[in-house]
Amino acid sequence: MTTAEKYKKYVIGNYGERSITLSKGKGCEAVDDKGKKYLDFGGGIAVLSLGHANGAWLKALERQAAKLAHCSNLYMHSPQADLAEELVGIIGQGKMFFCNSGTEANEALIKLARLHGLKVAGEPNKKYRILGAKNAFHGRTLGALAATPQEKIQKGFSPLLEGFDFGEYNDVASFEKLFDDSVAAVILEPVQGESGVTPAEAKFLKGIKALCKKHNALLMFDEVQCGVGRSGAFLACQKYGVMPDALSMAKGLGGGFPIGAMWVSKKYADLFWPGSHGTTFGGNPLACAVALAVLKEIKSKNLAANAGKMGELLRGGLEKIVKAYPQKLKLVRGLGLMLAVLFQDAYKNTDAAKKAAENGLLLIPAGANALRFLPALNVKADDVKRALKLFEKTVKEL
Ligand SMILES: Cc1ncc(COP(=O)(O)O)c(C=O)c1O
Repeated sequence: MTTAEKYKKYVIGNYGERSITLSKGKGCEAVDDKGKKYLDFGGGIAVLSLGHANGAWLKALERQAAKLAHCSNLYMHSPQADLAEELVGIIGQGKMFFCNSGTEANEALIKLARLHGLKVAGEPNKKYRILGAKNAFHGRTLGALAATPQEKIQKGFSPLLEGFDFGEYNDVASFEKLFDDSVAAVILEPVQGESGVTPAEAKFLKGIKALCKKHNALLMFDEVQCGVGRSGAFLACQKYGVMPDALSMAKGLGGGFPIGAMWVSKKYADLFWPGSHGTTFGGNPLACAVALAVLKEIKSKNLAANAGKMGELLRGGLEKIVKAYPQKLKLVRGLGLMLAVLFQDAYKNTDAAKKAAENGLLLIPAGANALRFLPALNVKADDVKRALKLFEKTVKEL
């Protein structure tokens, strides 16, 4: 049986049909099972911060795997302590919780919101509501799903966790209408990713922060996709100069090794008590050692700044292509190396992604008929220029 046949027979069909089987990669290049090479500008959906098979990443993985890969959270180990210290040093005073994915990090935020509400109200079920934004994506577990108001994602899973209401992204007034003192928290992506790469406006984030303060609610940012250097700063919210009370990270933090994290500011860092939350795998020595190596590379090689610079080069090139093909393309938007091109209604992003792959360029479809460009943070100008050529060829052929 081929890999595709085995998938069909043995793997549950919760993902759409796939046509490419990847077998290896190096840097921004991925290779399929037939030896065809692709320029990987999907980056495993914003995960591969250092590209495929990065030397420092590999070394950290091998060294830690040979020493202590897993021990559960019944014991302490230095990689988790060191990673927590490093992240608190970068983000701000507070404490960390580690898990395995973005959706788990958001579950932790949702539980944090509940504990904050309990502490403020002094009794359960009084201050528990969480406000989010329309078109948000926070993950697929039932809590994160309830915070993700998209029919195609929620369909089939009712009844959903209650207590979630949604305002319009970038519209403070629409949130103001939903607010009262029963709100425990607001959760927002500083750049909405899955729904088509829409950056927040600074005045929106500032307005929501003021509303949270007024109603003693936590401001929580989901930096799962836009965080860890991708925006051109370590956190996208740092670009806006708006710090939340807590935030989630995942994707780029492990550079391909699964890890998620929640940062909670000092004031709210002790809401959880022993036994109130936990995970077997979260924050294991292997994941933490690899994440530390990723952070070290980002810092020592100035990769957030590189994401900003390469993002400008990519955006400039994409804008030229949009201008040259206005009948097919609408616009470019995003921050740093989290960019998307929106297609005109007559052209489908999924067809464009397929054609781009035929031409040797991997891109990721997103909502709003968009294609996302999410290459490694250490991408070089030559690869950006190559990607632009391949994308222009793709648009021409559509
Ligand atoms: C903003 C955001 N939050 C949460 C998630 C869920 O992360 P994961 O797929 O690691 O569970 C994603 C994944 O795309 C995301 O983009």
